[in-house]
Amino acid sequence: MTRKSNSKARGNNKILISKVEMTMALWRKSLGDLISHIIAGALVAAFCLVFPVEVAAVKVDASKVSWDSPKGKKCKSCHRKETPGLWNEWHEGAHGKADVNCYDCHQADKDDVDHIKHKGFDIAVIVSPSDCARCHETEVNQFKGSHHSKAVAILDGIDNFLGKEIVGATAVDTGCIVCHGSTVKIEDGELDPATWPNTGIGRVNPDGSIGSCTACHTRHRFSKAQARQPTTCGRCHSGDHQPQLESYNSSKHGMLFAADREKMNLESDQWIVGKDYYDAPTCTTCHMGQVKGVAGDLEVTHDVGERLSWNLRGEVSQKEALVIYENGDRESWPEDGDEDVPEEGDEVEKDGKTRTVAQVLGVEARRERMTLVCINCHSEIYVKAFYNQLDSLVELYNEKFAKPGLAIMTDLKERGLLTRQDFDENLEWIWYELWRKAGRNARSGIAMTATAEYTWWQGMYEVAKRFYNDFLPEVERIAGDQVYKELTEKHLKDIEGHQWYFEARKGKN
Ligand code: HEC
Ligand code: HEC
Ligand code: HEC
Ligand code: HEC
Ligand code: HEC
Ligand code: HEC
Ligand code: HEC
Ligand code: HEC
Repeated sequence: MTRKSNSKARGNNKILISKVEMTMALWRKSLGDLISHIIAGALVAAFCLVFPVEVAAVKVDASKVSWDSPKGKKCKSCHRKETPGLWNEWHEGAHGKADVNCYDCHQADKDDVDHIKHKGFDIAVIVSPSDCARCHETEVNQFKGSHHSKAVAILDGIDNFLGKEIVGATAVDTGCIVCHGSTVKIEDGELDPATWPNTGIGRVNPDGSIGSCTACHTRHRFSKAQARQPTTCGRCHSGDHQPQLESYNSSKHGMLFAADREKMNLESDQWIVGKDYYDAPTCTTCHMGQVKGVAGDLEVTHDVGERLSWNLRGEVSQKEALVIYENGDRESWPEDGDEDVPEEGDEVEKDGKTRTVAQVLGVEARRERMTLVCINCHSEIYVKAFYNQLDSLVELYNEKFAKPGLAIMTDLKERGLLTRQDFDENLEWIWYELWRKAGRNARSGIAMTATAEYTWWQGMYEVAKRFYNDFLPEVERIAGDQVYKELTEKHLKDIEGHQWYFEARKGKN
């Protein structure tokens, strides 16, 4: 991978709202600088007075498409009788109300791979993001760049090996793909029942497009109100290995959502935190939602990763910048990795493809976006303290357990004491559950402000128990006294916090 600096192109492509960058830059100035704060506040207030009406983003670009196709009349009248449940869902939803009919979405060309002849009409059963893009280009483009759209592509590596080889391919085809998405195939002109129905988040569609919007917007209502609720995300973000829903439910935010749900104004057309609702934030408030505040605005984003600064799911956590290319691709880029984070205008070469960087959101910029959400209900100082706690816990996990653990695993492999094959030895299972289950619970638990159950009992408590009680004894068993001593001296003894263990076991080793 290489990158070329091309400063001429720099700054040409501001994809994301520059007003945020501007006001955030003001905002970042020292807290003590009260005067500039007041001036900034006054400027923003004056700005709002002079330009009271924000130019609303065009939601559906009617100039490019038309709908209420005459062909759709037949679909409606027959399906009203044949599938009344489906018809009512559609009729009561935004599309029914706006006369976007069955044919407007299901129409297909005769040469589309998934085309079928149905009651004399050319249709496709799958309405893919490319079809939605006729009317909702912004949402589709944001989604396309996000990690969500890569959820099938990442179905390889150690987790896939575990599913496919160790358990059996059917486990992947019926398990992983429910959340991650299938690669939908066509068999004899029909959707292959082994790969469809499926509404996994990164589904690969017959037309080559990626994702399924119905992963969050259930058909045929496609309701915003439903998508805004935590259970929408919890369909996939729950359970032992990604307990974000459970963490949220057990947090004060989740507690408040449960208590005040009917006051959340979920049906509102716009859903601006602090204005349209203020009782509690939900998953979408923090990761996608709209903000209009004194310090800056945020539009709804369909890239749920935009406001993150850490990757909390890997063996070792890393802080990552977000690199946005001119072609719309987006990529997380470790801040302290082997390659420097590129800058705007740079050309980045990867896998034989050259792309120009349109914008880079550094770790701080990503945090500032998230902070813009929180400060509708909390003080800035409170939020800084929260990030401080988050960083401390992630660093404790990284430095004390994850990095030395990983170094010992690598060392054992290099010495031939573990095979290169994953999961054929007990230690590999212990290590996998240590970082992927306990380690993730702790890290995503604190991120979602659930400090009790998920950060501690399901999280760091489990990390420590597995490390001292399972991992180290198994390393000792495999390595034998001499090599175990070498390994712990090299990778553990100088790391703060392990001394008590070696002190206590002095007589033993
Ligand atoms: C005369 C009645 C009738 C008309 C007209 C009609 N449909 Fe259907 N459609 C049905 C019935 C009945 C089914 C269920 C078929 C089954 O269960 O095998 C169906 C099934 C479907 C399916 C699922 C097909 C599959 O293979 O899974 C889609 C999508 C669909 N219709 C869309 C449309 C659209 C779009 C139109 C208009 C262009 C339309 N229908 C017109 C009666 C009709
Ligand atoms: C806003 C676009 C949109 C409109 C309007 C729409 N559909 Fe669909 N429809 C979809 C999507 C998306 C799917 C899910 C396909 C998939 O991804 O698996 C779907 C799936 C279906 C299915 C097959 C799945 C099932 O649950 O059986 C049928 C049947 C169907 N639609 C019929 C209709 C009929 C009839 C109408 C009009 C009353 C209609 N659709 C209007 C987008 C639309
Ligand atoms: C032919 C144009 C067209 C297509 C194709 C289309 N939509 Fe829409 N969509 C609309 C219109 C019009 C509205 C109503 C806008 C409004 O009320 O402001 C709408 C509204 C919505 C909303 C907001 C619903 C609410 O509760 O307010 C969602 C979500 C949505 N569409 C998703 C989709 C998805 C997903 C697809 C593809 C499966 C799709 N749309 C395909 C035209 C379309
Ligand atoms: C219940 C839904 C669900 C199932 C089933 C599931 N996953 Fe996941 N997976 C997720 C979610 C949600 C994440 C993101 C978790 C996070 O960020 O903390 C994820 C993350 C991952 C990652 C890490 C991605 C990255 O960017 O680092 C891999 C790899 C993965 N899953 C593979 C698999 C495989 C292989 C299977 C089946 C053997 C599987 N998953 C089953 C929901 C699921
Ligand atoms: C991860 C869940 C998720 C996925 C996947 C998703 N959406 Fe959404 N979408 C939402 C939420 C939540 C909202 C409401 C945001 C708000 O108003 O706070 C929304 C809102 C919308 C709106 C209404 C915009 C407006 O301003 O009224 C449209 C249109 C839309 N989505 C289209 C799509 C399309 C097209 C796709 C597929 C490319 C898609 N969505 C995929 C969660 C999702
Ligand atoms: C109060 C705001 C807030 C709410 C509510 C919230 N989150 Fe988060 N979430 C965060 C923060 C903050 C982070 C960590 C940000 C960072 O990396 O800097 C995070 C991180 C994540 C991650 C990243 C994990 C990884 O692998 O890196 C996922 C996935 C996630 N949240 C999903 C959810 C889901 C699903 C819900 C609802 C059940 C939810 N969040 C509710 C603020 C929130
Ligand atoms: C159909 C399953 C599914 C649903 C529904 C879903 N997600 Fe995800 N999500 C995933 C998977 C799988 C991943 C991991 C993908 C990867 O790493 O490539 C993921 C990753 C994420 C991440 C990490 C993104 C990043 O850039 O690192 C966040 C944050 C997140 N989801 C939030 C949400 C929120 C908020 C919702 C609800 C509005 C939601 N998700 C709904 C499956 C889902
Ligand atoms: C819509 C308003 C709202 C938003 C937005 C919001 N919070 Fe909260 N948050 C609350 C309320 C209300 C409480 C409960 C206060 C109390 O302790 O009585 C709370 C509690 C908390 C707690 C305390 C948890 C505990 O166990 O005591 C933390 C930490 C927190 N929020 C962090 C955040 C962070 C970080 C963000 C942004 C990523 C955020 N909040 C966004 C309203 C919000």
